[in-house]
Amino acid sequence: MPEHPASLNSLKQSLVNPLLEQMTLPEKIGQMCQVNGAGGWVPEDLAEAVRNGQVGSVINEVDAETVASLQKIAVEESRLGIPLLIGRDVIHGFKTIFPIPLGQAASWNPELVEQAAGIAAIEAACAGINWTFSPMIDISRDPRWGRIAESFGEDPHLTSELGTAMVRGYQDNGIGACAKHFAGYGASQSGRDYFTTEIPENELRNVYLEPFRAVAKAGVASFMTGFNDLNGVPASGNEFLLQQVLREEWQYPGMVVSDWESISQLTTHGFTADDREAAFEALNAGVDMEMVSRTYADHLASLLEEGRLSIAKIDAMVANILLTKARLGLFDQTFTASVSEGGKQELALEQARQLAAQSCVLLKNNGQCLPLRPQQLKSLAVIGQLADDGYEQLGTWIFDGDERLSETPLQSIRAHLDGVAEVRYAKALETSRSQDQSGFDDAVSVVEQAQAAVLFLGEESILSGEAHCRADLDLPGCQAALVERLSRIGKPLILVVMAGRPLTLAPVLEQVDAVLYAWHPGSMAGPAISDLLFGLQSPSGKLPVTFPKVVGQIPIFYNHKHGGRPPSPETVVHIDEIPVRAKQTSLGMSAFHLDAGYQPQFPFGFGLSYTRFDYRHLSLSHTEITADQSLTIEVELENSGDVAAEEVSQLYVRDLVGSVTRPVKELKGFQRNRLLPGDVKTLQFTLTPEDLAFYDRKQQRLVEPGRFQIWVGGDSDAELTAEFELK
Ligand code: BGC
Repeated sequence: MPEHPASLNSLKQSLVNPLLEQMTLPEKIGQMCQVNGAGGWVPEDLAEAVRNGQVGSVINEVDAETVASLQKIAVEESRLGIPLLIGRDVIHGFKTIFPIPLGQAASWNPELVEQAAGIAAIEAACAGINWTFSPMIDISRDPRWGRIAESFGEDPHLTSELGTAMVRGYQDNGIGACAKHFAGYGASQSGRDYFTTEIPENELRNVYLEPFRAVAKAGVASFMTGFNDLNGVPASGNEFLLQQVLREEWQYPGMVVSDWESISQLTTHGFTADDREAAFEALNAGVDMEMVSRTYADHLASLLEEGRLSIAKIDAMVANILLTKARLGLFDQTFTASVSEGGKQELALEQARQLAAQSCVLLKNNGQCLPLRPQQLKSLAVIGQLADDGYEQLGTWIFDGDERLSETPLQSIRAHLDGVAEVRYAKALETSRSQDQSGFDDAVSVVEQAQAAVLFLGEESILSGEAHCRADLDLPGCQAALVERLSRIGKPLILVVMAGRPLTLAPVLEQVDAVLYAWHPGSMAGPAISDLLFGLQSPSGKLPVTFPKVVGQIPIFYNHKHGGRPPSPETVVHIDEIPVRAKQTSLGMSAFHLDAGYQPQFPFGFGLSYTRFDYRHLSLSHTEITADQSLTIEVELENSGDVAAEEVSQLYVRDLVGSVTRPVKELKGFQRNRLLPGDVKTLQFTLTPEDLAFYDRKQQRLVEPGRFQIWVGGDSDAELTAEFELK
């Protein structure tokens, strides 16, 4: 897909401009409208609208034959023959389902994420889809928000790397990507979806906008505006975001689509009085295409007639849409029922298995109770509905996912232990939300007869994703009571959590021996988890988001500011230890909670392995650099355990003094390496001045001279550190 300004210019000259010159106003407005498909057939009114050039895009039509007929009408029967954008939410796979994006982020593996998006693109293209509403790159610091499942977590750098990888995966395989939701949607107050967001401009630029800047630079075909009200101006009518930042500062040449009815919702926000004003504000701000609501179709012509809008503005927006269609090669395609060759199912499943395995994060492993050793295992208990539910393991946003491809953990564990050990299964609970404990006795008896038990608990997929937010992040229903009951038996308990978000695990953590966090792993949950449980692979996932101990700690994220009274182990006091009538200033006096301290349950970047990795000999190429110089950082990594494994090594930086206060740590690089037992590898990271730049008080992006501290290690609590100065 051409991205270079020169090739875009030549597409404009040769294709877009000549077409624009021939278009009537209704045809122009038609291009700006996206309509909802009927789902498997072409109703006459839709056919007529396409024929008359009143539709630029159709969403949610995934039947290859139907799409082909729609395209034929657009290309052969409409006056100008402009093909349609066929949009669909292909979020973490099409037929073959990969882990939810938050799980993919835990792999810290851009290559696998890119390949997965490529497979999704090929499968989706077979159904005539040429545009997906992905990647979702909203920075998500609040696990109550259901849409954290769709995100890459809390960090701008990780999100930028994985977001651009996903864009490449889609766009190099024939479908356009869409960066969403521009912008700030992840900061919904109290983690309630669609709710208000208030983000100071400096934080907006340094944190929330960074991944969008990265994908704009990488040539993402389109942007989607958010549902949220950002600092008093809803994102779908936000001129600052869409004009100043996106078009003027970033020079973005792609197209902007609204979210579902988010233009007509400008009125619901109380930002506009009616649909007509909503159309005016959205257009004025720079939303090129309206998703599903009809304010553009109904009001643009009369707004133009009144002189409130200019035809030049409309032409520029239609040009963005036509250019996108041209970049995607739609004008060169012949539309038949199968627009591209089908994917190779086995290969797709193998990729899904790899990504799912690398997404799982080992959070606890007492006494090396994992991996399980089949030779020493006569019987294993498997407990929980999520152990054997091919649908729930897929997670949110799987409109086209094929459940028949699913292999469940129970199936894979049975296959692995076939002829070696006995596997007994008890569902225990009907759903993750169930309060009915009548299945507990059965589960107890199954665990009593086994040497160890693997418990599959967590959340069904409906508990995360759009509109599915939670205020309590403990295991839902009576799952904690089940853990408590089973822990009394005294057998090793291994907890596998399938969930769309970080859960507060404190209530069950002490009662289990091991915890493997699997998110919603997708079609190949079974083989991936079973490989890890039985040690065919070592867990290598790392958390893309901080896990709180209790909900009251939220927001809690690793890249926070330092504050004027930072806490330390010396300043923290627990509520149970406060002396009676302690004087007001006699203890504490730093930033922590009396009942939760200041540390999370698990820090960002954390994840255990079956082996041990040691970091040492951190060295810098320079102790001083200038603003046009790069710094090379080297560190030795040793696999000092006895298992071959992959390690995700992370580089963090702190700008010690800034004209605006800077985060205590920021991820600036990461790499995944496989090391055999005893292997020692020298890792190299490069820090460029660009990596050290940030937006200052005047919202200018620059590099400020001063001292910087760096850390390299296996998580954001890395201790190996050095300093350098930028002159
Ligand atoms: C979501 C978007 C999605 C769109 C189209 C909206 O409700 O917010 O993320 O792409 O629907 O399905």
